[in-house]
Amino acid sequence: MIAQSSVDEVMSRASIIDVVGQFVRLKKRGTNYIANCPFHNEKTPSFNVSPAKGIYKCFGCGKAGNVISFIQEHEKLTYPESIRWLADFYKITIKETETSPERQIQQQAGEALRILNEFAAKHFHETLMNTEEGRLIGISYFKQRGFRKEIIERFRLGYNPEQNDAFYQAAIIKGYSKELLEKAGLIKNRNGSYFDVYRGRVIFPIESMTGRILGFGARILKSNEKAPKYINTPENELYIKSKVLYGMFQSRQAIGKQDECFLVEGYTDVISLHQGGVENVVSSSGTSLTEDKLRLIGQLTRNLTILYDGDAAGIKAAIRGLDMALGQSFNVQLVLLPEGEDPDSFIQKSGAAKFHEYVKEHKQDVINFRLQVGLQDAGNDPVKRSKLVNEVAESISRINKAEDFSLQNFYIREAASKLKVDETGLVNLVNKYIRDRVEQENKPKRRDEAIPEPMEEPMGEEQFHKPSSDEVQEWQLLRILIEYGHLAYEGYESVAKMIEERVDPALLDTQLVGKLFNEYFDHYTHFGSTPEIHYFVNYPDPTIRQTLAQLLHHDTEISLNWKAKYGIESVSDSMMYVNDVDSSLSYFENKKVIVLLEELMQKLSTETDPLKQARMQMKYLELKKMEREILKRHQPVVFKSSKHK
Ligand code: UTP
Ligand code: MN
Repeated sequence: MIAQSSVDEVMSRASIIDVVGQFVRLKKRGTNYIANCPFHNEKTPSFNVSPAKGIYKCFGCGKAGNVISFIQEHEKLTYPESIRWLADFYKITIKETETSPERQIQQQAGEALRILNEFAAKHFHETLMNTEEGRLIGISYFKQRGFRKEIIERFRLGYNPEQNDAFYQAAIIKGYSKELLEKAGLIKNRNGSYFDVYRGRVIFPIESMTGRILGFGARILKSNEKAPKYINTPENELYIKSKVLYGMFQSRQAIGKQDECFLVEGYTDVISLHQGGVENVVSSSGTSLTEDKLRLIGQLTRNLTILYDGDAAGIKAAIRGLDMALGQSFNVQLVLLPEGEDPDSFIQKSGAAKFHEYVKEHKQDVINFRLQVGLQDAGNDPVKRSKLVNEVAESISRINKAEDFSLQNFYIREAASKLKVDETGLVNLVNKYIRDRVEQENKPKRRDEAIPEPMEEPMGEEQFHKPSSDEVQEWQLLRILIEYGHLAYEGYESVAKMIEERVDPALLDTQLVGKLFNEYFDHYTHFGSTPEIHYFVNYPDPTIRQTLAQLLHHDTEISLNWKAKYGIESVSDSMMYVNDVDSSLSYFENKKVIVLLEELMQKLSTETDPLKQARMQMKYLELKKMEREILKRHQPVVFKSSKHK
């Protein structure tokens, strides 16, 4: 285990800017940095990094955390692996402490399986290539399937003879234990004697993204009704079915390069496509797509093309995976192969050129596919049709809301016309599904959302400590930006510049506000001027447009903006906007102080060194003083939420 002192050293050395900067291009904005989010696909940056607080936050997908969670998420590592990654990055030598025996055993189990699998794969491959039975039975089977020598080698294919315990004997001589061999699914115990699981089968090693052998699929050669066609490795510390994609190791580079991943059903499909020159392909090994498998693919591309041979059960299973893929912002296409063909037989018969041609002509997007299958199934049954409308709306609602408005609208139009329903009705239905999901996602972390009335009394410390209307305040900040951003502010080029310098977007909890906030400043950086109010009033997404319209529709201030633009600004009006800006600003400055106070309290509660404690107490008093000063300077106005709700 990593010693706590090493964890501390890593944490104190690690800079979020250095580390995140290794993976994304950061642009400085005020005291923070922004970038296109590495965790979801986007064209305008929603990803914020705050060096002062050491955190990142994406307003598009909601991912947030510190330097360690970034590495965990981005590199798909565990917590200790991430610490090691960072130690390596900063050339820090890690001190190890004694691990608990259970933990050691668990770690060793995975490692032992890996070593055994490597041995087994080598053994099976040599048996195939260099023994008489291997050549006579195994190689001739592969030949008859059209697999050439290079491809057999690239995929490390193997063979195990019919003899009861050929592999068992070889493994025992090498010192592998029976328990480990059983756990790896390579041998079985029957009445006290052991025999090989893969007897008379050809063997497909299943590798991880980095080429580690996780397990095997072993195919029978004779058609035998009783025995299963394939025997796969059982779940163990190394082989976790929901996270395995066959072909990942051989295909990963091509997937990245082509920026597209074909998904097929079987081992042999992957191999034949590779042999035919189509190398960007993985197989989900006859099981359904999972979130984890999609994440693996998502590290390489967002374009997923599923090839399937379209029986009813397959289609049903596919549909579940499709919604998951839409939710992970994949651009998912489907290709239905001709009757009786799978990708293996198709490419063997027709070659790569015909394959590409076919794919190009028969690609259809998910929503159209659902419509086609659903309409066929529903016929004229009104109940089934209305169920279909709901299902399709649900699917459309999953298309990444943040950047694919136009795609969403396109699908809505398509679907409305094919389903013969009213377009506005369908828009409402889609929006309802979006709202439902957002509500569902926010439920556990939602704070008390009651709208506080404006207070007569100056606020006491305690009351001010619990901002219960963050969301309202955040919308108001956005309103102030949109309306007054271009106006003057003492000591700054404009109100917008001042807000950029002084408000930490990492403090914004409302995703949509964060997103629009970023868009605002992105526009500013790009064009050198604040966006016109029209930019927001005519926002492409109808729900956002409506929210903004309500936000901006209040009696005095909007006309003030116009007055400012047309040069008929009066002194009292200009006073008003400065007040408005200041009270909103003081809310966020105070919030920042509160966050720092909370962090300090947290640290204080675990600090045992009295010297450090004393220093923290000093800091605490300083922050308290700052808080009082902010309050003295500006009494924050409590906005009512009716303006945007
Ligand atoms: P298929 O039956 O389509 O097999 O199952 P295939 O890969 O095309 O093999 P050939 O071409 O008949 O030799 C698709 C996938 O489903 C899994 C395997 O991963 C297979 O590649 N499967 C199938 C099993 O795990 N067990 C089975 O008994 C059958
Ligand atoms: Mn096949």
